[in-house]
Amino acid sequence: MPPRLASLSRLVLRPSVATTTTKFPRSLKLRTAGMSSSAETQSDFQALRELGAKHITKGVGRVTEGIMVKGEGSYVYYDDGRKMLDFTCGIGVTNLGHANERISGAAAKQCMQLVHSQCSIAMNEPYLRLIQRLLPVMPHSSLDSFFFWNSGSEAVEASIKMARYLTGRQNVICMQGAYHGRTYGAMAVTKSKTIYSEFTGPWMPGVYSIPFPYWHHFNVPPSTPTSELVSQSLYQLDLLLVQQIAPKETACIIVESVLGEGGYVPAPPEFLKGLRQTCDKHGILLIIDEVQAGFGRASDGKGLFAIEESGVKPDIMVIAKGLGNGFPISGVISRRELTDRLKPGSMGGTYAGNAVCCAAAAEVLDVFREEKILDNIAVRSNQLFTSLRSVQSSPSLSPYILDVRGKGLMIAVEFASPTSTTSGVITDVGVVQGAPEKMASRVAKKCIEKGMLILTTSVYEVIRFIPPLNVSEEDVKKGVAIFEEAVSEVVREG
Ligand SMILES: Cc1ncc(COP(=O)(O)O)c(C=O)c1O
Repeated sequence: MPPRLASLSRLVLRPSVATTTTKFPRSLKLRTAGMSSSAETQSDFQALRELGAKHITKGVGRVTEGIMVKGEGSYVYYDDGRKMLDFTCGIGVTNLGHANERISGAAAKQCMQLVHSQCSIAMNEPYLRLIQRLLPVMPHSSLDSFFFWNSGSEAVEASIKMARYLTGRQNVICMQGAYHGRTYGAMAVTKSKTIYSEFTGPWMPGVYSIPFPYWHHFNVPPSTPTSELVSQSLYQLDLLLVQQIAPKETACIIVESVLGEGGYVPAPPEFLKGLRQTCDKHGILLIIDEVQAGFGRASDGKGLFAIEESGVKPDIMVIAKGLGNGFPISGVISRRELTDRLKPGSMGGTYAGNAVCCAAAAEVLDVFREEKILDNIAVRSNQLFTSLRSVQSSPSLSPYILDVRGKGLMIAVEFASPTSTTSGVITDVGVVQGAPEKMASRVAKKCIEKGMLILTTSVYEVIRFIPPLNVSEEDVKKGVAIFEEAVSEVVREG
């Protein structure tokens, strides 16, 4: 065998490296039950880790070392036996727990029936069953026309494409701090961190941004009343429409119902109403991005979508993440009156509305209803908010915790420490003298060391809690205890 092939076969073709289904789960079971694994499997994993280190593009960043080999409910397991409480849900995706038996079961069943039909060739049954289940839970009954795609970014791009086509206008208004994805069109309306687009321009033209009502964006104290932030943001929108882009040349405004990668800041209902009014006045379409906040993540326990609290009607709504609980599926939803004007063939994609993903997503909605997930969100949200506020009020920590905010189980804690970015230290009114530096990333690192996966968000010092929506009382308690210990240690270390 030529030397290159021989080394490949050592790394990839060794029978015990998970290439067969029999040996791998058995050894995994031993490890996850707390028993030591066989030396053979350990060295196989070591070889795979080295392969990953060498051959996965450096463009992907990761917060943990090692190979995630199994997920079960609120926990994930690594190749070295680590068991971690997962308060990331794969960034708001596995919201009903890892490898949810009903959802994985529905997908497995569909796998044996029909995997792929291709949307331009035929409809598939799960696609239609999914629409059947989505229709009654839409935030507004006018949202009755569906297009399914694979990722949030693709859905965002489809929504912008639709808006431009339907209005015959080019300009797009997005929010400072927004995150809508990393493909070209989605990246153009992403304004949360420069890392996502640096040195890759020119980007999609016709994109303008206004500040989202978050106190940082105006460099005013965190105590600034929300109404003031809202009127500042809406004023900037008005200015934009008289100084830079004429309303009659503006296709859409795109906004997240909860600013996700920009700091976990819920859009105030008055802001959303203001955007709606401006859109109505000028014939601009309002696109609501519920990719991260949707499907109960930022629910008040009543509906599935964060926009519902405001009563605002989106012209187009974009969904993904929790919709498939890990199966890649996204959606663009609008009203027939608009989508009936699209030309057949203008929307589509090889895997758009894949039958297996649609079957999984239809089951997600059944689980929500039958297992009363919204009730659990309301109770656990209350528990998590109360516990985090109690951590915030502890005398030794309170000077360093600026804010506990969010909605449902999309909750953030913001620290008062200075933020270092690639362009220097951002010093603004949120910084408290003497607060430890880089608190969010240091706290997250400690939480991970202590057995809980957790993420930071935004260019500010923010930790985000994204627990499963069916998380237990005990696991919320455990997560908060780990977090409190981590914050206390960082404060002690200074
Ligand atoms: C609000 C929002 N929109 C769009 C996206 C992009 O989705 P995807 O990563 O599936 O392309 C994300 C991803 O985090 C998101 O949070």
